[in-house]
Amino acid sequence: MKSCQASEKLSACLQEHEEAVQKWKKRKHLLDTKDLACDEIECLLALADLCKRYPQEPLPKVLADQIVATLFFENSTRTRSSFELAASALGASVLHLDIGSSSVSKGETLDDTARTIVAMGARAIIVRHKSSGSAYQLAQMLDKSTSVINAGDGWNAHPTQALLDLFTMREARGGLSGKKVAIVGDIVHSRVARSDIWLLQKEGMDVHVAGPPTLVPRDIANFNVSVHDQIQPAIKDCDFIIVLRMQLERQKQGLIPSLGEYKKLFRLDHNRIKNAKQNVVIMHPGPVNRGIEITDELASDERFSVIDRQVTNGVAVRIAALYLTAGA
Ligand code: CP
Repeated sequence: MKSCQASEKLSACLQEHEEAVQKWKKRKHLLDTKDLACDEIECLLALADLCKRYPQEPLPKVLADQIVATLFFENSTRTRSSFELAASALGASVLHLDIGSSSVSKGETLDDTARTIVAMGARAIIVRHKSSGSAYQLAQMLDKSTSVINAGDGWNAHPTQALLDLFTMREARGGLSGKKVAIVGDIVHSRVARSDIWLLQKEGMDVHVAGPPTLVPRDIANFNVSVHDQIQPAIKDCDFIIVLRMQLERQKQGLIPSLGEYKKLFRLDHNRIKNAKQNVVIMHPGPVNRGIEITDELASDERFSVIDRQVTNGVAVRIAALYLTAGA
């Protein structure tokens, strides 16, 4: 009965979003949230919602006999694992290239590495790289039959993280238009912050950022958000707070005087959130430095924190992303 319900709902969902499905088919890649149309976002989130509601009744195996390759030039727990689960859910074989033991150590370029994997038949490449623009570079270079999904490029973008954040926010609070969200911490080095800002603004949210001035981008005016160099005005009456990881190497670069000072001024704790809405939702893309950007007690407090739910939702959102790009 459930199986029938799930497939009927899938057909209805695809039919309802037919125009957006065609746009995804044409797009083929997922590189950023900035250029996504609202109907493409709705379509992806509707599909993710079905995946989450019917976990035992997965989508059709649209990637059966296909290879999905994960090329992670930077470490990952959540993104890589959830993409691999998503690819398996759609019937694909997962090819994970262990970059450390690959020919990259002999000087092989990103382009050649990707070309080599595609020559083995990869239908989709999920790429994370320290260089901003690397996913765009691959999308332009590769044959049109390969989809490229950006799993994080430098400071630039992490689109599936932003989409799972949006999915989790809607799940927690329903309609988001006009709701206030504060993104707190190291904004300048955060691809999550950039992708979130573009996406949450499309949703009509009131977006604020807060961090030490050295950790806020110089071109922040281009993002059209409210900027704060103190945490309290940013989180006042907030519906959502997205806490970013304090990248510890920033202290070595002299961008913050000391972690102690950062914690004193910006660490989120139960006391600080008293100024936010009573039912404020606390989010973090992970990995969390417990005790640095957020207290352990608050990160673990399920009255506020949806950090684990973000991870759970990541699988459904990535199934939908792969379905619409590579599987359409
Ligand atoms: N949020 C995120 O990208 O986590 P990982 O680095 O573990 O993939």
